[in-house]
Amino acid sequence: LSVLSVASELYPLIKTGGLADVAGALPGALVPEGITTQSLLPGYPAVLRQLASAEAVLDLGTMFGGPARLLAAEAAGLSLFVLDAPHLFGREGGPYAGPGGDWADNPQRFAALAQAAARLGRGALPGYRPEVVHAHDWQAGLVPAYLHYGEGPRPGTLMTVHNLAFQGQCPAALLAELGLPPEAYSIDGVEYYGAIGFLKAGLRLADRVTTVSPTYAAEIRTEAGGMGLAGLLRDRGPDLFGILNGIDTAVWDPARDSALAKPFSTRRLAAREANRTALRREFGLDDDPTAPVLGVVSRLSWQKGMDAVLEALPALLGLGLRLVALGTGEAAIEAGFARAAAANPGRIGLHLGYDEAMAHRIQGGCDALLVPSRFEPCGLTQLCALRYGALPVVARVGGLADTVIDANAMAQAAGVATGLQFANATRDSLEATLNRLALLWGDRAGWQRIQRNAMACDVSWSRPAAQYAALYRAIARR
Ligand code: ADP
Ligand code: GLC
Repeated sequence: LSVLSVASELYPLIKTGGLADVAGALPGALVPEGITTQSLLPGYPAVLRQLASAEAVLDLGTMFGGPARLLAAEAAGLSLFVLDAPHLFGREGGPYAGPGGDWADNPQRFAALAQAAARLGRGALPGYRPEVVHAHDWQAGLVPAYLHYGEGPRPGTLMTVHNLAFQGQCPAALLAELGLPPEAYSIDGVEYYGAIGFLKAGLRLADRVTTVSPTYAAEIRTEAGGMGLAGLLRDRGPDLFGILNGIDTAVWDPARDSALAKPFSTRRLAAREANRTALRREFGLDDDPTAPVLGVVSRLSWQKGMDAVLEALPALLGLGLRLVALGTGEAAIEAGFARAAAANPGRIGLHLGYDEAMAHRIQGGCDALLVPSRFEPCGLTQLCALRYGALPVVARVGGLADTVIDANAMAQAAGVATGLQFANATRDSLEATLNRLALLWGDRAGWQRIQRNAMACDVSWSRPAAQYAALYRAIARR
């Protein structure tokens, strides 16, 4: 079965968050299921630079005021279609924003991506005819719309939402320019509170909708979690459900990770200590190996509860804990972390930036990874933490609720605990959990049992890939 996957990010070519990891890992995970995936992404300069050889396969004519064509290429084990349209994507800066904020022509840029996908879906490229088009997030939200309103046979469509907070809206006046017919502007189409909603369109018009965890699938049907789309999502009934993310267990393998000071596994858990020591040195922590080291690898944002971490720092330090943090994000939160690190040398280590290898060193060296998100569609860092034996300490929301088993009394007695959960990202709740963590740390044998359980969890793509494959088979058509 042939699938065209459409996403605005793809690891390792271009990434701002977990979407890239998922779009980059799923195609390989689907191979054993008999699914062949081609991935369509925009031709950002960073992407074009990484293509060793690319072949122009389809002239798309003029799109939104400039020439566009499709390149076919292989890179990082992925089969790619790259939308080469320099007037839309040939600029330095982020995929969605430049120095002055969001690119003003984002509606046109990502409508072009969706149009290219729809044309491929309908067989515009001789010899290529996918049976399913899988659209990821708002940037691909118009794919199901173009396929729905177009003429002739079409492939099945799946819309996956990775984060409902980003919905992609533009003025209704752009309807014709975006190539949408007048009848598309309705509550059952692309209309969203008097504007055009890219994600809304996909959620309404795709054959099926998934999100990245069962709990998030339930949360977004509620007014509190639905971010304006709860009614529509409830209305989709059983056509909406959650499939958990996995992680690439070849990229994240503590036994074969060249970023680590020393590889380790459940059988050679003592070797983990060398990574812990190296991490403490790297972040300038004082030389007290008995103090547990908490790690943070995160966007520094409200979603991730990082402001609550700042509030809980006095309690954290009062309990004798240490913190190493890696991240970038909102200016006020970055400044808060910088102040805290400057005021607490030896106890708080900070790197403001984006650094993959450092993320691996933190996962392999810290004792517990803190993920106090306010909402979290799935979350990948807690999965990496499980695999690397850093106990995830997480808020009980979205995918965090689904992937971590709290070390409560029953779970410990049953021998199944893998981390700690708390109700929500408030200072009180966080402080109470840090207390529990300090107690648990006092019982080193108990701690190691949880650590081994964590490392034994299956966080690979194999289960999720089977679920996607079953779904593709159910909606496939041509
Ligand atoms: P989100 O996509 O909401 O930011 P996820 O947990 O799904 O959250 O994915 C985040 C991904 O980005 C993970 O692969 C994580 O390791 C990585 N990451 C986040 N911040 C950094 C950073 N500062 N340096 C390196 N990797 C990071
Ligand atoms: C989004 C979500 C995150 C999820 C990722 C991949 O970035 O915020 O929770 O893990 O997408 O699905």
